[in-house]
Amino acid sequence: MNERDSGAVAAMLRKRGYAMVDSEDDADVILLNTCSVREQAEQKALGKMGHLTRLRRKKPHLVLGIMGCMAQNRGQDVLDRLPDLDLLVGTQKFHQVPDHLDNIITQLQAQGPRPSTIVDLDEEEGSQNTIRDHLDDERQVSAFVSIMQGCNMNCAYCCVPMTRGRERARPIEDIVREVKELATQGTREITLLGQIVNSYGRREIPFQSGKSPFVQLLEAVHEVEGIERIRFTSPHPRGFKQDLIEAYGMLPKLCEYVHLPVQSGSNSILKAMKRPYTRERFLQIVEDLRAVKPGIYLSTDIIVGFPGETEEDFELTRELFESVGFDWGFIFKYSVRPNTSAEPLGDPIPKEVKEERNQILLDILNKSSLRRNESLVGSTQEILVESPARRGEGLYTGRTRGFRKVIFPGKPRLVGELVPVHIEEATASYLRGSLVLSGINAQDESALQQRSTA
Ligand code: 5AD
Ligand code: SF4
Repeated sequence: MNERDSGAVAAMLRKRGYAMVDSEDDADVILLNTCSVREQAEQKALGKMGHLTRLRRKKPHLVLGIMGCMAQNRGQDVLDRLPDLDLLVGTQKFHQVPDHLDNIITQLQAQGPRPSTIVDLDEEEGSQNTIRDHLDDERQVSAFVSIMQGCNMNCAYCCVPMTRGRERARPIEDIVREVKELATQGTREITLLGQIVNSYGRREIPFQSGKSPFVQLLEAVHEVEGIERIRFTSPHPRGFKQDLIEAYGMLPKLCEYVHLPVQSGSNSILKAMKRPYTRERFLQIVEDLRAVKPGIYLSTDIIVGFPGETEEDFELTRELFESVGFDWGFIFKYSVRPNTSAEPLGDPIPKEVKEERNQILLDILNKSSLRRNESLVGSTQEILVESPARRGEGLYTGRTRGFRKVIFPGKPRLVGELVPVHIEEATASYLRGSLVLSGINAQDESALQQRSTA
């Protein structure tokens, strides 16, 4: 979501005539977008900005700003630590950045005293609809589309309800309009974004023939011509109902990959985290998804070392993690966040224990990711070609429907195309392969067709 917000601000600035530079040494304006989910991310942003303020010695006109969750969450505190900031912008005010910058720059150009920091952290009615103007002329083969902002849950560890505010959904028509515009500009894949996508529109939009507003939205964007693949992130196990599971069987553009955060495999920890589901319910969802799409790819988020997590609790998490066989995942060491309901519990699990639990899960993850990738060697996969690879002359990168990264020799004209790639080599994090040319590998192509019609 931060990546998407940063992209939107960059696009708004380009429209105003600003240009992106490759190095911060060449920049006249540097904005940091920040994350508050763990303390480490905040420390990193504060350290980075501290370092950047030193660049001002050589370049007094350099404009520095902090945006996003940390600005929202720790406004005054950030200002106390970084009094030299020009701009501090919260999560509902990204669309104001161009105006604020123009103001600051005009004042600096007038050579008067440096203006005091502009602080814009208010809530704004309808702000979920403002963060959409990211459509500039640059083609994005795969684009993020924000469908809602905020979160109404109160998971005991999480600061998001504080940084992103209450849940607010964008209307279906607005989202569809944005997706159509993206498709016209060449976007082939969209990822719908929200803190809990499956609670999209719960208050605003009624159910229709047993379908939740989120499934209605999926159906609506599925109609958009030119869009070939649909993904979303993240859903919550609580609202993962039958209508969404069935959508995987009915909507061919919906890619068979789900990121479904479980956080813990122990019911007592889930309860302490205020996550309103059990491990049994989670496993049931996985089973139901696999019944509809047998090879479905799954990933998850897990927090190790939540206060009170015993060896037995962790063992339950480890066991669930291993038995589901996630294709990918993110493991986090618990970090106390100010003003959350878990804050008073402190951080009683020793660092080394967290580290050990983290490592155990990472090892399982690497093995299961490698196992999945190895199982793809010899098959032909449909790849959406995204861009030239970062390294390697003539190499291109793209993803399978299951979100596995593939690197292969390609051509510039293939960017944005869906192509069959024969997979030849696997590591835990990516695959290597080569393009299947029509007629030469006919067998592979018919296999691919069978896969995509299945
Ligand atoms: N400590 C560690 N991990 C956290 N997450 C959220 N809050 C915390 C915290 N206080 C993790 C959760 C969430 C992911 C985005 O970050 O696993 O799903
Ligand atoms: Fe945070 Fe829980 Fe909301 Fe996710 S559902 S954003 S973890 S409060």
